[in-house]
Amino acid sequence: MITEKEALSALSAVTGPDGKAPLPQSGAISGLTIVGGKIYLSIEIDPTASMQMEPMRAKAEQMLKALPGVSGATVTLTSARAQAKAAPSPSVAPNPAGGKQAEIPGVKRIIAVASGKGGVGKSTTSANLALALAQRGWKVGILDADIYGPSMPRLFGLRGKPQSDGRKIYPMEAYGIKVMSIGFLVDDDTAMIWRGPMVQSALTQMMREVVWGDLDCLVVDMPPGTGDAQLTMAQAVPLAGAVIVSTPQDLALIDARRAVAMFRKVNIPILGVLENMSYFLCPHCGERSDVFAHGGARHEAERLGVPFLGDVPLHMAIRENSDAGRPVVAVDPQGAHAKIYGALAAGVQASLEQEKRAFPKIIVE
Ligand SMILES: Nc1ncnc2c1ncn2[C@@H]1O[C@H](COP(=O)(O)OP(=O)(O)O)[C@@H](O)[C@H]1O
Ligand SMILES: [Mg+2]
Repeated sequence: MITEKEALSALSAVTGPDGKAPLPQSGAISGLTIVGGKIYLSIEIDPTASMQMEPMRAKAEQMLKALPGVSGATVTLTSARAQAKAAPSPSVAPNPAGGKQAEIPGVKRIIAVASGKGGVGKSTTSANLALALAQRGWKVGILDADIYGPSMPRLFGLRGKPQSDGRKIYPMEAYGIKVMSIGFLVDDDTAMIWRGPMVQSALTQMMREVVWGDLDCLVVDMPPGTGDAQLTMAQAVPLAGAVIVSTPQDLALIDARRAVAMFRKVNIPILGVLENMSYFLCPHCGERSDVFAHGGARHEAERLGVPFLGDVPLHMAIRENSDAGRPVVAVDPQGAHAKIYGALAAGVQASLEQEKRAFPKIIVE
C-alpha cells in the first residue's frame, strides 16, 4: 500500500504555487489523505490565481496516479481564506434534459435535500429526515455532497477515516445510517475551490466507489445555492426528487424559489418545500412565538404548485444535539421533534409515491 512518504516524494517533481519550491517543500500542501489505493491531496493557493494553478494541479494528479498501487488521485486547490462564493463558477453545459445517469446498484432511490442558501438548516434536516425514514423501516444512507461545508461528520459524531479495501470505500455508520462525506477525506476547515469536473469526479467517487449495500433511500445533502456547481451536482446524481428547505423570511423564500426553478430546469421532481426555524417554541413555558413571519414557505409552496411538507420549530434541543453529534431524532426517537421529522418523512414518502404514479418509468431497450 502506498505511503504518505512515497506520495510526497512523487510530488517533488511538481513545482509549488510560488513557481520555485517543489510542492512538498512549498508549505502549500494543506491535506494529504490516503484511503486504500486512493489519494486525496489539497493544495492551498491564492484564490485569485486558481486558473494559473491548474497546470500544477493537473501535474500533481498525474504524478500521483502514476504511482504503483494507486487506483485514483484527486487533487484539489483550496483556500482557507476564500469564501465558497469566491470560487470560480464551473462551466456546465446545460443538461440535455433527462440526461441519463447510471443508477447506483442496490440503491432504490436517491433524494436531494437542497436550499437556495446556506444556514437554513439543510444539513440538520437531511440528517433527521434520514433518521426518520429509517424509523419508518427504510434502510437509509446519507451522502454529504456539501463540499463547501461538509457537516455530516459533526452531525453524526463520526471521526476518523472510512475503511477501504484499496478499491472500494466503506461508508461510516452511526445510528443505523450509512454516512459518506467529503469531510472524512479532507480537512473540514478548509474552504475549497472546486471546478466543475472536480465536483463531478469527487461526487461520482463518493456515490459509486462507496459500498452502500442495499438501500431504500440515499439522502443527499446538497451544497447551498443555485449556481452552476449545484446544477452540476443535481445532474451528476440520478435523483428521484428534491426536498427544498427554507426559513420563513422573504429572502430565503426567494432563494427557495430559485432552487425549485433549478431542479425543474433539469426535470427533477420537487418532493416538497419545508419551513425550518418556522416558529419558536419556548422550552420553559411551551408558548409558541412566530419569530419571523411564519407560514411563508407554505404560501410559496402553494404558489409554486409543489407539496408543503410541514414546518420545524426553532428549538435549542435541535441545535444542541446536532452540534454534539446526536441528531434529535436519534436521541429522542419518541419525542416531539422526532414526531415532526416523522411527519416530514411520511410526506416525502407520499410525494415519492405520487411521482412514481405521475411519471411511470418508461424503459427503452
Ligand atoms: N429547527 C432548528 N432549531 C434550532 N436550530 C437549528 C434548526 N435547524 C438548524 N439549526 C441550527 O442552525 C445552524 C445551521 O443549520 P445547518 O443544518 O448546518 O444549515 P445548512 O446546512 O443549511 O447550512 C446549525 O447550528 C443548526 O444546529
Ligand atoms: Mg450544511
